[in-house]
Parts: sequence; structure tokens; C-alpha cells
Amino acid sequence: MKVGFYQFNPVFGEIKRNLDQVVARLHEVECDLMVLPELFASGYQFASQEEVERLSEPVPDGETTARLIEVARSRGMYVVAGLAERGERGCYNSAVVVGPSGFLGCYRKTHLFFEETLFFLPGDTGFRVWDIGEAKVGVLICFDWFYPESARTLALKGADILCHPSNLVLPHCPDAMVTRCLENRVFSITANRIGSEARGGKDRLTFIGSSEIVAPNGRILHRASRDREEVTVLEIDPAEARKKSLNPYNDLLQGRRPDLYAR
Ligand code: ACM
Repeated sequence: MKVGFYQFNPVFGEIKRNLDQVVARLHEVECDLMVLPELFASGYQFASQEEVERLSEPVPDGETTARLIEVARSRGMYVVAGLAERGERGCYNSAVVVGPSGFLGCYRKTHLFFEETLFFLPGDTGFRVWDIGEAKVGVLICFDWFYPESARTLALKGADILCHPSNLVLPHCPDAMVTRCLENRVFSITANRIGSEARGGKDRLTFIGSSEIVAPNGRILHRASRDREEVTVLEIDPAEARKKSLNPYNDLLQGRRPDLYAR
């Protein structure tokens, strides 16, 4: 199975321009599963609620999801991509999953980071897993990584691959994903962005790039640069994520002791 990410520098507020760039790039790529960054079409650093509302879209009926479905159909690939979703009660920092047959579903970010808490509602979908034939894919968004429960819940729900749209600014996540993969025996694909934003008189945010694909044994199969645009596609065997036996005495998930864990 060929899986990958597209690390690039979205221009804030320029949804059509960002979409055109991504769609053109995906038309050049051969893969089964592609992960794009968090908020890849809108940009990240919102200055007001009005901006969030203007740059968010209904799912699945908005322009961004429609364009992703179009490219997924014509390229025969699945795409997981972060976007600002306009829901009935307010806006969510979400990710859609689309494929050759159309829209599969949406995940709303559970753990909002920093000023996202001012502009978005906390996600209410819970962690979700989709069967895309060759693998089961689970979705978490950026700061969700900081809560190990996110990856664990997805592993318990059967995910082979964690798809992780991100806009990382702190340096810790790429190394931490090694542990998330090892402790859950899953693959991860973190798609981060590059560049920086300094909007509305706020401090500049510099995104750290370093998108990566990690294997269930904790090996970093590829890590991108901190500051250059890059598409990476690698061949993986998702069956590796289904081997939860560590040795004849230890099975990863069977060995859990939930009765002794705090809730
Ligand atoms: C983040 O959750 N965008 C850091």
C-alpha cells in the first residue's frame, strides 16, 4: 500500500489558490492514501470569529470537500485533510476522509490548542476509524497527539494507520510519534505545514515541517525537512500493524489492565 503526505505552505485566507495548488500536486502523485495538513485550505492563525466563519465550510457540501472528492475519484486514492468546518452550532477544526467512492466521514478535533479554543468548538465526534479496504485508518489532528488516549483509542478501535493532519509549532511531536506508534503498534502519517503566520498583531507562529511516516516498531521511515515543500509516498504493509504480540508472553492490547487505570 502506498501512503504519503504533502507538506507545503498554505497562504492564509486564499482557499481557492491553496486548493488549486494541492489538487494540481495530487494529480501528479500515485498513491493509495494521502494526508494533508490541518486547516490546509484556510490557513491557521485566525484573527477574529468573523474570519473563522467566512473561511469555514459545511461538510461534505463545501468547496474544499468537493474538490478533494473530485481528485480522490480521478486518482483512485483516499485523502485525509484538515479543514475549518461550519456546523449547525458553530465551527470545528475538522478533518475529512474521502475516497474514490466519495465522502466517507469527518472527525472534529478533540483537544483544541491555544487560541483555537477561542474560535472553534471542541470536537464532539469522538475518535473514528474508517475501513478503506487495504487498511483501517484512524484520524487525530495535531495537538491530539499530546493526549496518548487519542492514539490508544484509535488503536483499540482497530486503526492500522493514524492519519495526523497538523500545524505543529512546538518541536516535540515528531519524536513523540515514535512512542505513539511503538506503544500502539500502528503506523502514523503526520502531515505538517511549513512557513509562518503573524496575523492581527499576534506573535508570529512558525510551523516546524518535519512531516513524517513512522512504522509500528517505532522506526521513522521518512521525516521531511523543517522548511521545504515536499510530497513523500512510501510503500508500507498495513498488516504489520495487526501484529500486537510482542513476544510469547506479551500481547500489547490483551496485556492492558484497565481496571487499574484512572478514568
Ligand atoms: C496544533 O494543535 N495546531 C498545535
